[in-house]
Formats: sequence, structure tokens, C-alpha cells
Amino acid sequence: MRAKTIWLSLAAFAALTAAHEHDDHVTSQEPFIGWTQEDLDAKWGTDWGFSGISTFAHLPHVRCLQHPEEEYDIAILGAPFDTAVTYRPGARFGPRAIRAASARQTSFRGYNPRASINPYLEWAKVIDCGDIPITPFDNALALRQMSEAYTNLAHSTAPASNRDSSIAYRRTPKLLSLGGDHSIALPTLRALNSIYGNVAVVHFDAHLDTWHPAKYPSAWIDPEDPAQQSFFTHGTMFWLAHNESLIMKSKSVHAGLRTRLSGIGDNEDDDTQGWIRYSADDMDDIGFAGMARQIVEHVGTETPVYLSIDIDVIDPGMAPGTGTPEPGGWTTRELIRVLRGIETLNVVGADIVEVSPSYDGTGEVTALAAAQVGFEVLSSMVKRGVGDSGKGKEKSGGSKDEL
Ligand SMILES: *[C@@H]1O[C@H](CO)[C@@H](O)[C@H](O)[C@H]1NC(C)=O
Repeated sequence: MRAKTIWLSLAAFAALTAAHEHDDHVTSQEPFIGWTQEDLDAKWGTDWGFSGISTFAHLPHVRCLQHPEEEYDIAILGAPFDTAVTYRPGARFGPRAIRAASARQTSFRGYNPRASINPYLEWAKVIDCGDIPITPFDNALALRQMSEAYTNLAHSTAPASNRDSSIAYRRTPKLLSLGGDHSIALPTLRALNSIYGNVAVVHFDAHLDTWHPAKYPSAWIDPEDPAQQSFFTHGTMFWLAHNESLIMKSKSVHAGLRTRLSGIGDNEDDDTQGWIRYSADDMDDIGFAGMARQIVEHVGTETPVYLSIDIDVIDPGMAPGTGTPEPGGWTTRELIRVLRGIETLNVVGADIVEVSPSYDGTGEVTALAAAQVGFEVLSSMVKRGVGDSGKGKEKSGGSKDEL
């Protein structure tokens, strides 16, 4: 605003240089004089993939936790936390790595041919809220910090035009979290519970993550006290979420499983918690289209869904930069095709977790996969908000994939 006033007051000076009608093809020697904001935006407002400060897909950055008045439809939020892991640490650097690897996503080249949509140029205001500054010293405090951060942000407001929309999906802002280790799914589920009540979880992972915390052999913990800090790990957060009654019974799905178990009892515990399971090998037996169709049938297209994607669902040959790698996983493309096949789900929140860049290849292969998965998740969220609740699209989306 002030800058504009100054330009106006310099009109006389500008007149002196009036011979200079600015010409887009000529390099101007007159700094900023006579240029409107539109001119400047046209001239300097478009980043290359390799230029600019690193936000997800060059999205505008707002420190949302300090600006609760900020309105948005979808926000990226980093959760750089990795002190609840059982093996390799380093996922605290995941958000940075995924943002850097998303650099070739720009709004002017953001059209997703798989989804027939450019998620960055549609109805949705998409921003990058930065990271939650989480303590690395005290997991009980970290859990409190994340729970408060997610719950506060979950109650943000959508921009006015979407708040009053006839399309229900547009009315509530959605968060896409970048982890961090997988334990961050507990505070996100707490936040979603405060809005939607129980949600279904659609979980892509090599591991169950519904393990009872006392399954790690230890004489030092009390198996009856879920509040103790050692219960909160990246392999137990869905057990805790079930214990806190955050997850909808009989609607949740794991897909991509291939981990070793302590015994078949692990699967029975998982049954008791109300999950169904697809293994990594089911990709060969029923294919991505069959799997996606069955997931959508099981969950339903109106049920509020938390979509939780552990990057270790992808084979470590294509995603080595992760904390608990398990050979024999899916290709990046297989994961993306399943995600595309479930685009009609009512996803109300999502995460991409367990990217640990110090174990990644020099070509950022894992972080690139995570950034691409983020793009697919955003595409599906935005697409869901285009038409009414995706009902009409259920058929066309499915049948195309089956060909
Ligand atoms: C939560 O865990 C505690 C301790 O194991 C148990 O007593 C309680 O029944 C559990 N609650 C639910 C809902 O599973």
C-alpha cells in the first residue's frame, strides 16, 4: 500500500521519464518507477523449480500456529519429530527433504493428468503452514505440543466463499502432515476426533502399527498404564488411538503389509481393533484396481477418512531413506495407482511419514516419492471438492483405472 502511494507521488518524476513507456522486451534502468504490482508480479512472480525459498510446491508460507486468523482450504504442515522410532532415526529432517523434493511442482505446471485436475489452480486455497517446533528432549511434552498444534489448526476456517459452499467437502480446512516418524498420527487423530468424532484410517505401510506397547519385551514398563511415555512409539500409535477410542470400528484398512510379526496373535489383536489387512503380495493377486475398489467398498465414500502413508510401503529399492525398511514392497507407481483408485474417499486429513533423508540416495529418490505422493493426495482432495461429494465420479474414476 505504502509503496503504491510513493509511486503516485512520483508521478511528476515519472512524467519526466515519460518517454520511457515500459516495454516488456527492454531491460528497464528505472527501478520500480511506473510499474504496477501486476507488472512486477508478471516480471518477478514466477519461480523456477530451483529458485525460491523452500516451501511445498512453492506454496505461500504462513506460520499458521502464530496466525490462527489465517484462512485456508488445505494446509501442508511439517511435524519434524523422530524420537519415537525403533530403528533408524532421522525423520525429523523429512519435512525439509520432502519440501525440497517438491520443487518441480509449480502451479503453472501442476496439471495432474491422472486426476484431470491442477490442484494448485482450483477452488482450494492451499498454503504451507511451516513446521510445528517440537521438542526433541521429551516425548510426553512433544505429544502435548503436537496435540495442541493439530487441534488448534483443525479448527481453522475456510475462506468465506467455501465456508458457505453447497459442497460439504469445501467447508472444513484439511491438513496434510509431513513427518516425522509415524507416531505423529496419534495427535492428528486426536485433532480430527474433536471435529468429526471417530474417523476411519486408511493406512499404507509395511507394518501394522497397532502393536500393544508392551510387545517390546521389557521388565521396566507397566503393561496396564497407557499414559507412560514409553507407550508412545511409531509402532504403537494406532493401538493408543484405539485405546483412546479415536478410530471408527470396522472401517479401517491397512495395505502393503509385509513385516515380520511376533506371532499370528499380532494379526488377531489387529482384528480386535477393527482393521482389515491387505498385504504387499495382494498387489500381485488382486491388482491395484481390485484393491482400490475393495477399500472404497469397505470404507464407503461418506465416512470421514484419515489417510496415513508410511513411505516404507514402497520397496526400499525405490525408497531407501526410511527408518524401518522392509524388502519386497510396492513400486512407487503401484502406490500412486492405488491412491488414485481411492480418490472418491472422504479424506479429511492425511500424513506422509517416515522419510529419513540421511539414508536416502543422492538422487533424493525417497523424498521425491513422498513429494509425488503429496501431489496425488492434494489432487484427490481438491478433486473431491469440485463436484458434489464425488458420487457421480465414483464410476468413471474406477472404470478408467480398470482398463
Ligand atoms: C486402554 O488400555 C488400558 C490398559 O491396558 C485398559 O485398561 C483399557 O481398557 C483400554 N481401553 C480401551 C478402550 O481399550
